[in-house]
Amino acid sequence: DDPSGARVFDLEIQAGRTRFTDGPATDTWGVNGTFLGPTLRARRGQEIAFAVHNGLDEATSLHWHGMRLPAVMDGGPHQEVAPGETWTPQWTVDQPAATLWYHPHPHGKTAAHLLRGLAGMFIVDDDESEGLNLPQTYGVDDVPMIVQDRKFDGDNQFDDGATLFGALGVIGDHLLVNGTVGPYFDVTTRLVRLRLLNGSAARMYHFGFGDDRPFSLIATDGGLLPEAWETDRLQLSPGERAEIVVAFEPGETVDLRSFPTDIGGVMGRLDGFADKLDVCRFRAAESLADDTEIPAAMGAAPDLDLGAVAEERSFTLGEDAINGNPMAMERIDFGVRVDTVEVWEVVNDNGFLHNFHVHDVQFQVLEVAGEEPPPHLRGWKDTVPLIPGERNRLALRFSEYTDPNVPYMFHCHVLQHEDEGMMGQFVVL
Ligand code: C2O
Ligand code: CU
Ligand code: CU
Repeated sequence: DDPSGARVFDLEIQAGRTRFTDGPATDTWGVNGTFLGPTLRARRGQEIAFAVHNGLDEATSLHWHGMRLPAVMDGGPHQEVAPGETWTPQWTVDQPAATLWYHPHPHGKTAAHLLRGLAGMFIVDDDESEGLNLPQTYGVDDVPMIVQDRKFDGDNQFDDGATLFGALGVIGDHLLVNGTVGPYFDVTTRLVRLRLLNGSAARMYHFGFGDDRPFSLIATDGGLLPEAWETDRLQLSPGERAEIVVAFEPGETVDLRSFPTDIGGVMGRLDGFADKLDVCRFRAAESLADDTEIPAAMGAAPDLDLGAVAEERSFTLGEDAINGNPMAMERIDFGVRVDTVEVWEVVNDNGFLHNFHVHDVQFQVLEVAGEEPPPHLRGWKDTVPLIPGERNRLALRFSEYTDPNVPYMFHCHVLQHEDEGMMGQFVVL
């Protein structure tokens, strides 16, 4: 902690070597280690400060994905940290408990830097969520799962070459959970909460268990849902998170898998979308503690006032651009008035998978392809899938931080698309 009372996190971005499989170690990057970074945790109302030191020999950044914060602290392409420099953002956490994450966001190089290994979870806590009887013992019945894919070349190094279908970037054939190939988890409680993050650059996951058992979705990007939704499949596009609670029987073994995605069209049949993959094996002990539950009432439903829409905007995602404009560092696309409600229509105009992420905000999904959103898109979100041909409507309110000079980003979170220009910038005034 520093004298002003802020909680201080020291983060060292560094290069190293990591051994994932048999054979030689692989060149990797990490935060306070050689691959990925520590889970950061802060409470609503807490002032937090960082010393982010870049120990690499090229510039990078750390962006706090899903966090409401001043634009100058956001860690996007306007806050790159030069080699050897230290960046010291600071803000007060002011949003409900949620599973957020952090990752690099340097201009044009987000995919490459993420694939080297820079990423971590960022969990926000609050009194309300801790007062619930949900599983919440970190690493025991509350488990972060950063799900990523990688390819290895003949020398066992990361292979960043795009696949045959290069329009998406790297699709790996090895799945990693928290940086581990072939992961398992020893279950000691009947209910386990999994905080799932699609931390891949391009791959979409369609999670489910090998025996098709039901599980409960309890939280989306921005925090807890009003009530749990029971399902046996859950699809997450790059950057999205979900918290699920699953029940285990004593002594059983079951696998969390990713099934072929449900996005239709040609894309749905390609690598990265049609694959069936093992994600993680769960091995339950012979006797399981049973002292948590899924409460009937959890978080707050999105409740933006749609009677008072200040502005409507439309965004068409196509060929390396949004509305025909590729990302340019000097161009700010528009200004939003603080604390007003806007409705944004987002359109996938070509045959590829896209999604849509907005910095500094958790938004409400109003419509997906002309329909009421499905249950897993009814909570607060910062990233929404946009499958080919889809037209979705979002309501957003930027509630607090203004800055006429420093923009926030909106973009496709398929990182090769972002890097190639499917991104724009806005300021909050
Ligand atoms: Cu997850 Cu603009 O980022
Ligand atoms: Cu973000
Ligand atoms: Cu895209």
